[in-house]
Amino acid sequence: MAYPSAKAMLFVLAAGAVQENAAAGDRELGQYLSSECVTCHRPSGTNAQGIPKIIGWPEDQFIAVMNAYKDKQRDNPVMQTIAGRLEAGDIAALAAYFRTQK
Ligand code: HEC
Repeated sequence: MAYPSAKAMLFVLAAGAVQENAAAGDRELGQYLSSECVTCHRPSGTNAQGIPKIIGWPEDQFIAVMNAYKDKQRDNPVMQTIAGRLEAGDIAALAAYFRTQK
């Protein structure tokens, strides 16, 4: 899954997400992408069967964790596969969406 510009995009978007909480990620895209996530992660934000809650996180932390799975620095085959399919813009969008979920 190597897109030539993925690394550069990632830095641009990650930096944007840290500086400007509201505007960085595209929340509508995030909502669209989140349908896959909430088959496992409870949208209500409770833990379920060892699956941690992912709402309300600061966006920079959310992005860092997703990138750690993507780069296989964090060990979980399911999340590595899922994060590996996402581009930086997708991850920023998901971060923006889940941060605002209650
Ligand atoms: C098939 C089930 C499944 C799906 C689908 C799934 N996850 Fe996960 N996710 C998990 C599990 C299990 C863990 C805990 C892994 C671990 O211990 O590192 C996890 C961990 C995480 C974490 C780290 C939570 C923490 O407390 O450290 C984040 C962030 C996350 N997932 C985001 C997502 C996003 C965003 C999506 C959708 C693009 C998604 N997940 C889809 C099962 C899933």
